[in-house]
Amino acid sequence: MDQIVVTGNGPLKGEIPIAGAKNACLTLMPATLLTDAPLTLTNAPRLSDIKTMKALLESLGAEVQALQDGKVLVMASHDLTSRRADYDIVRKMRASILVLGPLLARYGDAEVSLPGGCAIGARPVDLHLRGLEALGATLDLRDGYVHAKAPGGLKGAEFEFPLVSVGATENVLMAATLAKGTSVLKNVAREPEIVDLARCLRRMGADIEGEGTDTIVVHGVAALGGATHPVVADRIELGTYLLAPAIAGGEVECVGGSRDLIAAFADKLEEAGVEITQTNRGVKAAHKTGRIKAVDVTTQPFPGFPTDLQAQMMALMCTAEGTSVLEETIFENRFMHAPELTRMGARIEVSGGTARVTGVDRLKGAPVMATDLRASVSLILAGLAAEGETVVNRVYHLDRGYESVEDKLSACGARIERMRAA
Ligand code: UD1
Repeated sequence: MDQIVVTGNGPLKGEIPIAGAKNACLTLMPATLLTDAPLTLTNAPRLSDIKTMKALLESLGAEVQALQDGKVLVMASHDLTSRRADYDIVRKMRASILVLGPLLARYGDAEVSLPGGCAIGARPVDLHLRGLEALGATLDLRDGYVHAKAPGGLKGAEFEFPLVSVGATENVLMAATLAKGTSVLKNVAREPEIVDLARCLRRMGADIEGEGTDTIVVHGVAALGGATHPVVADRIELGTYLLAPAIAGGEVECVGGSRDLIAAFADKLEEAGVEITQTNRGVKAAHKTGRIKAVDVTTQPFPGFPTDLQAQMMALMCTAEGTSVLEETIFENRFMHAPELTRMGARIEVSGGTARVTGVDRLKGAPVMATDLRASVSLILAGLAAEGETVVNRVYHLDRGYESVEDKLSACGARIERMRAA
């Protein structure tokens, strides 16, 4: 298995291109199932999760062409041969559940394997199912699969999500576009990826209002058409790379994205003493002198501080002045990076959903293990400022969500390389 070796090498300087958002692309791709006309996505990220979604759509009989080295995806779902998302693919990636709403809305039946648990928590899909039931679907859980039916088509309805869920909002939103009548979806997620999905669906002919607020109204239409849509910038990749100069010192301009995608996170960086500037090409972070100050963080649904940046923020807090309290409210087991950072000399006490991090002067390089996607990149960030060599194992997690991390960071002067497995 590949490893990434990082050696602390002083301040960074340069620019990093920000790719299209993985999480947006993973919900935009299943939208192809809603129409027999082609859907083209530009600015797609080149990641293993995107290849997994491509394989899933192809297993249903959709055509997915990856052009321009994977940056453009041209999809068409006119002749689907199956409406069953198999366990073998779904178990690799939880976002596979996002084919359920579109299949059901267009064909009136679908079978999708239940994703099961994952490293960062139990992550059930009950909200996806309850929302689809509200639109008139009949669901039966058998043999580890959801067997969903809506023979006469879905019907618009009012549904209030008991808990804010990004994936469930996406699934039910896609399904509602082809339901008969009006759906009023309340307490929906407001993440930029939801806004991007609504924009794409509107380009395809859907009638949607309210995305970005907590209520979305969808007037169902008889059919959707094709569209070309650029994937929104990846705010988590943006936040991750803004942390690189915060941790190692120096100045990095992220090209692509904007501050409003990560406002709560940018505010915390500023509070910690990092200079954040919106430029005409993206967002720049600079940290030239003085020590980073400890700040407290609580993860929240958008527009709050994103759970997907909590691990990386913890890496910054490891060498901050003072003690910071990081509270994780979205997932119940999302501190697996803490013991690995501790191996590098960090002082972290975890108790339930709270981590107390007391800054040390400097971390020391060590062999560490990536346990999930965001945890892996937090270890790389920590390695940028550590004394000596940090060897990150199990980097396949990283490849699910970050395009060529070693090239992007080394272009800014970091000493980082991938050791390929023989
Ligand atoms: C998405 C993102 C993920 C991010 C998360 C929260 C994708 C592909 N992934 O995941 O990177 O960390 O949003 O911002 O977009 N829940 C239920 N029942 C459900 C669904 C969710 O109880 O049916 C719970 C989850 O266990 C979790 C919380 O709701 O505690 C939020 O999860 P959700 O917003 O659904 O996350 P995902 O869509 O899976």
